[in-house]
Amino acid sequence: MNTLAIALLSLSSTALALNANSCLPKTTPLPSASTHSALFRGKFQKAVISPSHGSKSQALYSAAAAAAAAAADYSPTNRDVLTKLPGSFWSGAKSKYVLDFDWAVSKGMGWRKRIAAAFKFLFLGGLWDTIVSTYALLMRRIPVTIYDARAKEAEEGLSKADFFDKYGFVLLNSKSAMTAEDWVASERDVKGELKDINNISVDGGAAHRMRMDEFRNEDTPVKRIYAEEAKDMLKSILPRAKTIMPPAKGIRRDLSGGLLNGPAKQVHNDYGLVFDEVVERNPFFDFDKQRAIYEESKADEYMLVNFWRPIKPMSTPLRSMPLCFLDSSTLGEDDFVTVDNASLGLATSLKDNPGHKFYYYPDMTVDEVVVFKQFHQFRNETKARMPVFHTAFPDPAADKDTEGRVSFEYRVGLMA
Ligand SMILES: *[C@@H]1O[C@H](CO)[C@@H](O)[C@H](O)[C@H]1NC(C)=O
Ligand SMILES: *[C@@H]1O[C@H](CO)[C@@H](O)[C@H](O)[C@H]1NC(C)=O
Ligand SMILES: *[C@@H]1O[C@H](CO)[C@@H](O)[C@H](O)[C@H]1NC(C)=O
Repeated sequence: MNTLAIALLSLSSTALALNANSCLPKTTPLPSASTHSALFRGKFQKAVISPSHGSKSQALYSAAAAAAAAAADYSPTNRDVLTKLPGSFWSGAKSKYVLDFDWAVSKGMGWRKRIAAAFKFLFLGGLWDTIVSTYALLMRRIPVTIYDARAKEAEEGLSKADFFDKYGFVLLNSKSAMTAEDWVASERDVKGELKDINNISVDGGAAHRMRMDEFRNEDTPVKRIYAEEAKDMLKSILPRAKTIMPPAKGIRRDLSGGLLNGPAKQVHNDYGLVFDEVVERNPFFDFDKQRAIYEESKADEYMLVNFWRPIKPMSTPLRSMPLCFLDSSTLGEDDFVTVDNASLGLATSLKDNPGHKFYYYPDMTVDEVVVFKQFHQFRNETKARMPVFHTAFPDPAADKDTEGRVSFEYRVGLMA
C-alpha cells in the first residue's frame, strides 16, 4: 500500500554509493544543460571508428590498448564500436517517472477507485510521464562508443575474481550441459506471471504465490543441471559465498520475442537501488524470502547476480543485439531515473552522462557466460553498492546473415 511513499523516500540520490566497490561517491563530469547528449558525446568518440560488417581488420585503437592487449596475448583486433545506445533519458530528465496502468489492467478494482486512478493518470501527470518515458525508453537512441571488454580484461590482467570484484561483471568460459530443449523447458512464462499479478486483488495472490513456488522449486533441467554449474562458477569468482540460492527457472529471450521476451533495449537495472525497495517493489522475484534468510542468518552480505549467455540452438558467435555493461565507477550522482510501474514493479534507468563507459564481449559463444551484479548489500553499510546497468544494443558487426540472438538469463541470490 505504501509502496509509493517507499519509492519516494528511497529516491534521494544522496543515499547511494556510486562505485561498484566503494561507498565513496566518485565525481564524474556533469553533463551540460543540453538535452541532446549527442552534442557532448562527440569528443569521447573521435579515436574510434566502427568496423565494417564481418571485418576485424580495420578498427583503429589506441596504441596503449594495443600494447597492453599484445602483452596479454590478446590477438584479435580491438572491437570497440561506435553505435547507438537505446533507451536512456537526457540529462535534464526528472529523476522519477510513474507509469501506472493498474486502473486499466488490474482485475477486481472497484469502479470508483478505477475512475479516480484513470482521472489521475489522464489529467494529473500520469499520461505525460508515460509519453515522456516511453519516448526515452522505447524510441530514443544516442551515439555512443562501446568498448571491448575482452581487451579490457586483457589490459587489466586481473584474475576473474578480481575483475568481477572491481567492475561487477566478468566473462567466464563455461560449457553447459543444457540442450536447446532444456532451456525451453526451464523458461519463465512472463506473460502468465503478469496476468497473475494483475489478478492479485481478485484471488488474493494465490496464483502468483504458486508461480513463485514453481520458479523456486519446480523440477526443471535448470534446477537439475544449470543450478550446479552456476554454483561452481560462483565459487570460482566469489569463494566467500556461503549460501547460494539458484532458482528453477530463468528468462529465455530471442530476437523475435517482442517487448516481453525480446532483448531489453533500455539502459537499466531491473530493481531499485536500496534493499527495501528491491524487496517490496519487485513482484517477479522472491526477494522477501531471501531477505528473511539474510536477516536470520546474520550473513555479512547479500548479492544478486545474473548469469547471461547466448544459448543453443545458436551455432555462431553472437552479433545480434548483444548486451553491454556499464562500468559503475563512471556513474554520476544525478544519473538515476526511477521508472515506477506501480504494481508491476520498479526499475532504475539512467540519464546520459558523457563520462559513462560501456563494455561488451564481442562474439560471445554458447560456451561463454557473463556474470554481472544486480544488487549488492553489505550488512555493515547503510547504502547498497552499485549494480551493473546494462542494455542490448545493435552491434555494427551484424549484417543480414547474422544469426538472431537466443539467450538465457538466470538470477541467483547469494550470501556471504
Ligand atoms: C483471477 O482469479 C479468479 C479467482 O481465482 C479466477 O476465477 C480468474 O480466472 C482469474 N483471472 C485471470 C485472468 O487469471
Ligand atoms: C516499466 O515500463 C517500461 C515501459 O513500458 C518498461 O520498459 C520497463 O521494463 C517496465 N519496468 C518494470 C519494472 O516492469
Ligand atoms: C564492510 O565489510 C566488508 C567486508 O568485510 C568490507 O570490505 C567493507 O570495507 C566494510 N565496510 C565498511 C564501511 O566498513
